[in-house]
Amino acid sequence: MSAIGALPARVKLVEVGARDGLQNEAVAVPTATKLALIAALADAGLRHIEATAFVSPKWVPQMADHDAVMRGVPRRPEVRYSALTPNLKGFEAALAAGAQEVAVFGAASEAFSQKNINCSIAESLRRFEDVMQAARTAGVPVRGYVSCVLGCPYQGAVEPAAVAEVAGTLYDMGCHEISLGDTIGVGTPLATQRMLGAVMRRVPVERLAGHFHDTYGQALANVLAALQSGVAVFDSSVAGLGGCPYAAGASGNVASEDLVYLLHGLGIETGVDLDALAQAGDDICAALGRPTRSRVAQALAGKRRNG
Ligand code: HMG
Ligand code: MG
Repeated sequence: MSAIGALPARVKLVEVGARDGLQNEAVAVPTATKLALIAALADAGLRHIEATAFVSPKWVPQMADHDAVMRGVPRRPEVRYSALTPNLKGFEAALAAGAQEVAVFGAASEAFSQKNINCSIAESLRRFEDVMQAARTAGVPVRGYVSCVLGCPYQGAVEPAAVAEVAGTLYDMGCHEISLGDTIGVGTPLATQRMLGAVMRRVPVERLAGHFHDTYGQALANVLAALQSGVAVFDSSVAGLGGCPYAAGASGNVASEDLVYLLHGLGIETGVDLDALAQAGDDICAALGRPTRSRVAQALAGKRRNG
């Protein structure tokens, strides 16, 4: 056992850069740019790639090309492509376009649920039942997201018990994995472990994923706290891109490059080639005309510049 406790030997990474990373971009990102990003992520060794969201284009215009993206991803036996599907309409479109996994997304905060998907938590869970039933028939695995697990942009504090309740319901419904989202990146390690403690009384830890946005610079610390609690699945976004259109001020997810660097430093396998991943991040940042938010990518670029 290391000084920081027993940690998982291997971690599953879910790359959300093409969805969470790009959904909040003000200027339309060409489909070809998204597809080039997704291909580069697969080349870098990522095996679980959330490619797009089958949501209303009126609500999230940046995801309006969901069909072309899902139909255009490079199919490889080792890579699984998933998409967000808030309702049956989204599920059917995602299935027709070739999604191999879908995700329903709920919230632990009533106010956020209303703003994000225009219905109460209870109503969202009813809609997800329809998706679960259709997915079971089609043999498609469903992931469940819970947003605002460490705070809400509208109602502030969120009780761990509220997170456990929604996460438990999604698990009971048949979601194979529950991703716990610190949507606005306000959490700290102790709050993360307290929240996980409550959720783990309802959902086995092997079924949990951490989804940390980095608004307050705590995402990597929260990942480590979650690893110490036994979580072995993490979502991240290349170059730290992203934010939620219905959570003002929320910044991107923990950068995939930073997460991979941390995990490799802890002796945890990811199957990802860090240099190839950083290149994918540099390329999408060049296409978007902005600097990377990944500290590791910045450091690697500095090292290259200095020979
Ligand atoms: P609504 O307006 O209540 O839905 O939106 P509606 O059923 O009344 O339909 C309104 C219109 O949307 C209709 O079209 C429907 O056909 C259409 P119209 O007749 O007006 O032309 N519509 C759809 N179109 C495409 N795909 C669909 C779909 N469903 C209805 N699936 C709805 C409800 C859920 C659709 C809407 O609120 C929505 O799309 N919300 C998505 C919000 C979103 O994508 N947020 C960001 C992702 S969540 C996130 O980032 C958090 C996460 O990363 C975790 C974390 O960080 O915490 C996952
Ligand atoms: Mg998110």
